Amino acid sequence: MSSENEHNLMEKIVSLAKRRGFIFPGSEIYGGLSGIYDYGPLGVEFKNNVKQEWREEMFRRKENIFELDSSILMQRQVWEASGHTSAGFTDPLRECKKCRHRYRADHLEEGGVKKCPDCGGELTEPKKFNLLVETHLGPIKDDSSLTYLRGETTQGIYVNYKNVKISMVAEIPFGIGQIGKAFRNEITPSHFIYRMREFEQMEQQYFIKPEEADKFFTYWKNERIKWYTDLGIKKERLRFRPHAKDELAHYAKEAEDIEYEFPFGWHEVEGIHNRGDWDLSRHSKFSGEDLSEVDGETGEKFYPYIIETSAGADRAALMFLADAYSEDQDNKRVVLRLCPKLAPYKAAVFPLLRNKPDLVARARDIYNNLRLVVSRELGAAIAWDDRGNIGKRYYSQDEIGTPWCVTVDFQTLEDNTVTVRDRDTMKQERVGVSELLGYFNDKLC
Ligand code: GAP
Repeated sequence: MSSENEHNLMEKIVSLAKRRGFIFPGSEIYGGLSGIYDYGPLGVEFKNNVKQEWREEMFRRKENIFELDSSILMQRQVWEASGHTSAGFTDPLRECKKCRHRYRADHLEEGGVKKCPDCGGELTEPKKFNLLVETHLGPIKDDSSLTYLRGETTQGIYVNYKNVKISMVAEIPFGIGQIGKAFRNEITPSHFIYRMREFEQMEQQYFIKPEEADKFFTYWKNERIKWYTDLGIKKERLRFRPHAKDELAHYAKEAEDIEYEFPFGWHEVEGIHNRGDWDLSRHSKFSGEDLSEVDGETGEKFYPYIIETSAGADRAALMFLADAYSEDQDNKRVVLRLCPKLAPYKAAVFPLLRNKPDLVARARDIYNNLRLVVSRELGAAIAWDDRGNIGKRYYSQDEIGTPWCVTVDFQTLEDNTVTVRDRDTMKQERVGVSELLGYFNDKLC
């Protein structure tokens, strides 16, 4: 794809996201806030579906993985123990001496850039810039009240390791996972919701015996890439990228990224990390609480190793949008070919004509019943539309990825059947009103 096309595709996705209520720039009426975005009504449904699929995968389909919801704010010492306040959690920053614009030195190097890309001015030498977002807790704003908004959700899991283990009577190997907000003072937020300053992570930590690290690293790599392909991501747009030794995060013994081929190139959507015993040994040392285990066979004490799967909910959302976006040249329509499980609405209900009161009344009746049943049985939303003509309504639903459109017509009044039109094939079939729920359920991929 040419760089102009790549640019156009991202522009189209950003524009659709705003126009159709998926994602808005944060604080827009005040001119926006760099790296911050708000999810609109359809975006909330869509992103919740992504998160729900992750929850199902981790906590329902798998055994021995427990869900947590820990606080964003933690004791400052947590971030000292984790290594985030020191050199571990920094990006190299260069600043233009003329226009003061700031850049990530590694991104400039990738592009072979030596002068300020904005004004051609001279750049400062790279210096380490810490990504933690600072805040103060309590009425006095001094060093003693300083703490941080969490830079990753993971640390909340480690500080609760013992609580979960004891309360759930868990024995290794077992996992703890959570979904939640994380904050990073990114030097250059970029590519829409790809690199943000406030974002959501879906992280899972699997606690194991050290000698099982290779086995579980491979296991989780395979499980995680399968999750994306099961939800419809094209295989050829996914790959693993092992980290070189000199790019490993401060906590990692081994790491591989799952990368997706975005319109702006191959980039990370998820990291699989062997964090070794870094976290539990450091938290034991800093907190004074012994988080070690004793090997049942040898009687030896050890700190569990951790295999981490760390995905971003927003990055995943962008990937699903980019992968699903298509323009059907023959029919001049934009279609979001989202996996139906992720689509904001599972179906839309229309009356064939809006000026026939008996048709509209029957359609509304069907919509009201179906809405409650689909919500209860599938935990999903459906839409109503009676604007414009039927063709426009189809195109409008295609653009937001609604997999099935249900049209109530004159035949419905006679035999209680409706037409169901499929987003991807555009084929229509006649289905009994009482069979609609089963029809959707069978087809949900
Ligand atoms: N606990 C390990 C950890 O946080 P990471 O590679 O820094 O590892 C994991 O982040 C995932 O979180 C990334 O693969 C990405 O999906 C998401 N993520 C990280 N920084 C992000 C940002 N600034 N904006 C959006 N998502 C981000």
